[in-house]
Amino acid sequence: MKTGEFVIIAGKKNYLVKVSDENFSTEYGTINLSKLKKKKIGDKVKTNSGEEFIIVKPSFIDILMKKCKRLPQIVMPKDAALILAYTGIPTNAKIVDAGAGSGFLSIFLAYYCSNGNVVTYEKNKEFAKIVRKNIEKLGLKNIQVKEKDILKGIEENNLDLITLDMKESENVIEEAYKKLKFGSWLVVYSPYIEQVKKVVEKMKNYFTDIITIENITREWKVNYHTLPKSSGIMHTGFLTFGRKLIKTI
Ligand SMILES: C[S@@+](CC[C@H](N)C(=O)[O-])C[C@H]1O[C@@H](n2cnc3c(N)ncnc32)[C@H](O)[C@@H]1O
Repeated sequence: MKTGEFVIIAGKKNYLVKVSDENFSTEYGTINLSKLKKKKIGDKVKTNSGEEFIIVKPSFIDILMKKCKRLPQIVMPKDAALILAYTGIPTNAKIVDAGAGSGFLSIFLAYYCSNGNVVTYEKNKEFAKIVRKNIEKLGLKNIQVKEKDILKGIEENNLDLITLDMKESENVIEEAYKKLKFGSWLVVYSPYIEQVKKVVEKMKNYFTDIITIENITREWKVNYHTLPKSSGIMHTGFLTFGRKLIKTI
């Protein structure tokens, strides 16, 4: 394993750790993480008290959700996944996203469109720094962060997808239409229905196939008595999709 790489050490409890020279304390003793440098996925590693763990490769979602810094509001993978499911964009898609925020949506899209690229606009310098650090943690090379206000224009053309998650998304719709390929999609994520209304009203002037959906997932407790869990996040946000199929400008 290489220094800086994330791995799961799985045993009585599982830990997502970074290969380094530090000591890592578990409930079952301490592991010097430098031991991992001589190991590979599937090998075993022991704590100072002899407890054995197996080294497992973490998924992209493990690293995104547990190791990336997040600002108060991100697009969760369950919502980002619907963008892929509804648009069917190719793996070499050219995508523009704004605002980058913590970069969760742009990272998700870049990971799945691994032969394409994502340009994400962020007007706040501090947030752009966080996004760059998060991208580095995932080791993605196909995302570019632009410290720019997208309301001043989109520099890219011929896009397969534009995603917006920001205040005033409704004011980007005409520009987005111009920069998309025919057949491609604009997707707006909105936490509130008031923004959805403004977005849909604007989209109607340019886009077809407009739909707004919400993705509520509910976990179930499966036992002798089986029932839905009463806690958990219900509402995250609304996704509004519009497709560029007709010439309006
Ligand atoms: C809710 S966050 C986006 C979260 C992001 N989708 C994620 O999954 O991490 C909204 C971001 O949009 C940025 N923003 C707002 N207006 C913008 C604009 N006109 N141009 C670029 N970024 C903008 C804000 O600074 C903020 O970081």
